[in-house]
Amino acid sequence: MLSLIRPNVEYEASYRSYIQELGDAERYPFPLDFDFDDFPALVNRLNSYSQGVDLPDGGVPSTTFWLVEDGEIVGVSSLRHRITDRLKRLGGHVGFGVRPSAQGRGVAKELLRQTLSEAGRLGLSEVLVICLKDNEASSRVIRANGGRLESEYSVPEYSSLLQRYVIPVDAGTA
Ligand SMILES: CC(C)(COP(=O)(O)OP(=O)(O)OC[C@H]1O[C@@H](n2cnc3c(N)ncnc32)[C@H](O)[C@@H]1OP(=O)(O)O)[C@@H](O)C(=O)NCCC(=O)NCCS
Repeated sequence: MLSLIRPNVEYEASYRSYIQELGDAERYPFPLDFDFDDFPALVNRLNSYSQGVDLPDGGVPSTTFWLVEDGEIVGVSSLRHRITDRLKRLGGHVGFGVRPSAQGRGVAKELLRQTLSEAGRLGLSEVLVICLKDNEASSRVIRANGGRLESEYSVPEYSSLLQRYVIPVDAGTA
């Protein structure tokens, strides 16, 4: 069973092994980049961000979720409660990633599905998800959850085109 939970100190060992598995791969979504030497401090930071407390300049409230299977974190998602014009170009409402050893068996689809339910609880009626055009796995996950391609565009930060998808929140039925 795949359960979406809020960060909690009991999962320190699993979190550390997740980061180790990622190795040099890009840590996505962005909270995976946060320092975790002091694990309780990481959990506090994530909880603060969810409450809109101690945000960096220009930051918006965001909630991090861990998808857990048999006591292990197998996926991570991040849900911004609102987005700015800059985030409409880069970032979007939702980011997600799956532990390498758990990829390729539908975990990301379920992670996004459950994250969309949380977006509904926050009162969002639709979310924007931005993905690199050459990230086929990601775009399949988004489309499987009802995502509609809204536009494609380039930004100086990436060589690949970006795709912006709109997902009606009640369409999370992958
Ligand atoms: C993208 C990612 C989350 C997919 O996770 P996953 O759990 O393997 O995805 P799923 O098993 O739910 O599979 C989703 C779809 O992608 C396809 N897929 C998986 N890996 C693929 C690959 N390397 N190339 C092309 N398609 C791929 C699957 O076949 C499936 O499509 P289908 O149902 O139409 O057959 C994972 O690869 C990852 O964490 N990547 C790094 C972070 C990232 O890119 N996040 C998304 C940013 S928007």
